[in-house]
Amino acid sequence: MISLIFNQIIKLSATTSIIKSHIQEMEKLVSSWCKNKPLPESYIFPPETRPGNLVVPTCNTIPVIDLNKAEGQNRTHIVQQILKAGQEYGFFQVVNHGVPENLMNESMDVFKEFFEMPWEDKAMLYSEDPKNSCRLSTSSVNYAREKIHHWRDNLRHPCHPLQDCIKQWPQKPVRYREVVATYTIEAKKLGLRILELVSEGLGLESRYFGDKLSESEILSINHYPPCPDPSLTLGVAKHCDPNLLTLLHQGDVSGLQVFNNGEWIGVEPLHNAFVVNIGNQLQIISNNKLKSVEHRVVTNSRVARTSAGFFIGPSEDSIIEPEKSLVDDAPFYRAFEFKDFLLHYFPNLEDNEVVMGHFKSQA
Ligand code: OGA
Ligand code: NI
Repeated sequence: MISLIFNQIIKLSATTSIIKSHIQEMEKLVSSWCKNKPLPESYIFPPETRPGNLVVPTCNTIPVIDLNKAEGQNRTHIVQQILKAGQEYGFFQVVNHGVPENLMNESMDVFKEFFEMPWEDKAMLYSEDPKNSCRLSTSSVNYAREKIHHWRDNLRHPCHPLQDCIKQWPQKPVRYREVVATYTIEAKKLGLRILELVSEGLGLESRYFGDKLSESEILSINHYPPCPDPSLTLGVAKHCDPNLLTLLHQGDVSGLQVFNNGEWIGVEPLHNAFVVNIGNQLQIISNNKLKSVEHRVVTNSRVARTSAGFFIGPSEDSIIEPEKSLVDDAPFYRAFEFKDFLLHYFPNLEDNEVVMGHFKSQA
């Protein structure tokens, strides 16, 4: 009996120390310490990559495309708009896209509520292991290894197959699973619809991207607390997305910037719109007919910003290569397995030339 109690005490104290170290780790979340604190040195970017006091031009911004028009006689026109935006900006916004407005609002509310919950309710999900597919973390992919930290907290999890993934999703707020499940189903539908329009524009059969190439779905929710000095730091440093297509719900607070013609341009928040961008894989498969373009997130000192990226991508075992019918002379890229792309992407994610250079064809 005594030894039983003794064992229990040992177990309990082990658990307590795990919890203690977990609490210490969680204190790295920007939202847990940032209130009324100056910007720590470890968040200050070097002069060449920090945003400074740059005012982004408002006259030049990414195209806004009305998807309602894609169903009528204007379809070819919309397809052309999408292709042109994908070539020139790598980015566009879609309105009248069919995802119900109340669902967009409700999911944004539930994302914000998640980050507002006390730490005890989020502790289970916190992890510093990049291999952990469902996790709450802070900064970029690897806090321990990176030189400079990013001003953001992040929750990400896979969404497909839903029945399996949903078990790992947050249990609080209580409506999280229900609302987010509906949201991701709708977001996937919209993504496939856009991919059909892209396929039509490229002269491919409309279901070209509909199977393995779009099998993976990851939801990545960013929380950027107000920042004491937005000129010195970034929410997310410049990068391209490694997947096929991203649908971003950026709420009503600006912060996203896209690199275009040698300058950073801002993406105006449009209520109820999705920001869509071409991922590295769509650039490769289209043999550079579409571009994945570098983007970054700046912070602000007034309000917190919450955004949710829905990343549609290939299954890890997919073989990626330029589609033959889109190759005029020689393909720009060699064939590779998608999981090898990811292995090379994460250590180099701030340098798209290095990432893509590795997969260029030798010819
Ligand atoms: C990303 C990203 C943009 C944003 O998570 O890849 O680019 O506005 N996010 O949060
Ligand atoms: Ni991105």
